[in-house]
Amino acid sequence: MSHSSSNAAPAGKLTPIEKYYRLHARIYDATRWTFLFGRTAILADIAIRQKPVRILEVGCGTGKNLVSLGRRFPQAAITGLDLAEPMLEVARRKTAHMGSRVGLLHRSYNAPVGDLAGYDLVLFSYALSMFNPGFETAIQAAAADLAPGGCIAVVDFHATRFALFERWMGVNHVRMNAQLRPCLQAHFMPMLDRVDHAYGGVWQYLTFIGRKRAN
Ligand SMILES: C[S@@+](CC[C@H](N)C(=O)[O-])C[C@H]1O[C@@H](n2cnc3c(N)ncnc32)[C@H](O)[C@@H]1O
Repeated sequence: MSHSSSNAAPAGKLTPIEKYYRLHARIYDATRWTFLFGRTAILADIAIRQKPVRILEVGCGTGKNLVSLGRRFPQAAITGLDLAEPMLEVARRKTAHMGSRVGLLHRSYNAPVGDLAGYDLVLFSYALSMFNPGFETAIQAAAADLAPGGCIAVVDFHATRFALFERWMGVNHVRMNAQLRPCLQAHFMPMLDRVDHAYGGVWQYLTFIGRKRAN
């Protein structure tokens, strides 16, 4: 499975996030490990609850999680979706050794992928906080993309009490005023719902795993 489709910005018009990642794709992996906490832990938290065989990572970026998911769930077919082509370019190189187990989709997650089989797991790792506007739509899309009994897993910025830091994160397209948790709780039955402190409380980050609610 190796595919690429696009419904990002109209030709020639990049969204602000695509422009941002034209530069940041080059320094992403070297810098983000210093502050995107909980990405390894959430994969372990998923593994003790579920053995997914069809996985979608929304906002897969440079593909760090795609590689880790591949190792942790050797039976799984994995799709990575992202709006920013420069990030997918890195992900493509990083996952080349995984062959047809990994597919990459270039598009915005403003509607479900709509794969008929549905996914057992939809992962958002530091992606949803960049969906502004649109995080509610993305959470609903994930619910639609999940097969019955499937799970959503989210690790992301939650909140900060420092207004200056919140503004700085806004400059970097990240919203962190506790907007994600209530929406996740409304659409999914929480199996893990935890808020941790980073750097002694400068900010908090959220780890959420939830099962799709029966309609
Ligand atoms: C902070 S990076 C996280 C990358 C990766 N998940 C990780 O944990 O390292 C956020 C990613 O979400 C993508 N993204 C932001 N808004 C998106 C949207 N509406 N649809 C799809 N991807 C989006 C960005 O292009 C970026 O690659």
